Amino acid sequence: MPELPRLIIATRNSHKTQEIRHILGDRFEILDVTDFPELPEIEETGSTFLENARLKALGISGRIDGWVLADDSGLDVDALGGAPGVWSSSYGGEEGNHAKNNLRLISEMANHDQRSARFLCTLVLAKNGKEIATFHGAVEGEIARQPSGNGGFGYDPLFIPTGYSQTMADLGADKKSQLSHRAKAIQSFVSNVSSGNLLNL
Ligand code: IMP
Repeated sequence: MPELPRLIIATRNSHKTQEIRHILGDRFEILDVTDFPELPEIEETGSTFLENARLKALGISGRIDGWVLADDSGLDVDALGGAPGVWSSSYGGEEGNHAKNNLRLISEMANHDQRSARFLCTLVLAKNGKEIATFHGAVEGEIARQPSGNGGFGYDPLFIPTGYSQTMADLGADKKSQLSHRAKAIQSFVSNVSSGNLLNL
């Protein structure tokens, strides 16, 4: 059997890597930066998802061989003027603390009846420190008043996708792999790969 092409995901978030593996199935050998302990932490100093995804993709791909795919993503809530946005992972005051982030979101939204929101995802594909392509995905929905469900990660227990009555965390991995912002951005990546535009497979 021919070797699978290797795709390195520029993240230390194991949930993201798992989701990307789940969506891409066995088309690629998927690694992430935790497989390369020598790599430095890339600071996300950009003010948009695209800027941050670019920083990660170029910062990592300049240091290792192979295709690198960086994801920057977050939650955009209308009643909060787009917050938490690019600050989604530290919204509760502590980087990556999902429980605190969710508590802050519940409290900021307590007096709002307008509950519309979306998850956004930008992917940047890079090789040898050069940007090759970008992909975007979004899923519309609304913010629940109470958390529900154990699946997914981050704000999933508070996000009800449009057309569903359960949160993303209730819906589970298979459904999330079809409808999430990340799934849509990755489907766009896959269709470019399949049409032969990328990677020269
Ligand atoms: P990043 O690692 O800078 O892209 O930050 C992403 C943050 O956005 C995560 O820490 C979560 O708070 C939130 N987020 C991104 N994608 C998802 C998702 O699929 N479900 C729930 N929260 C997400």
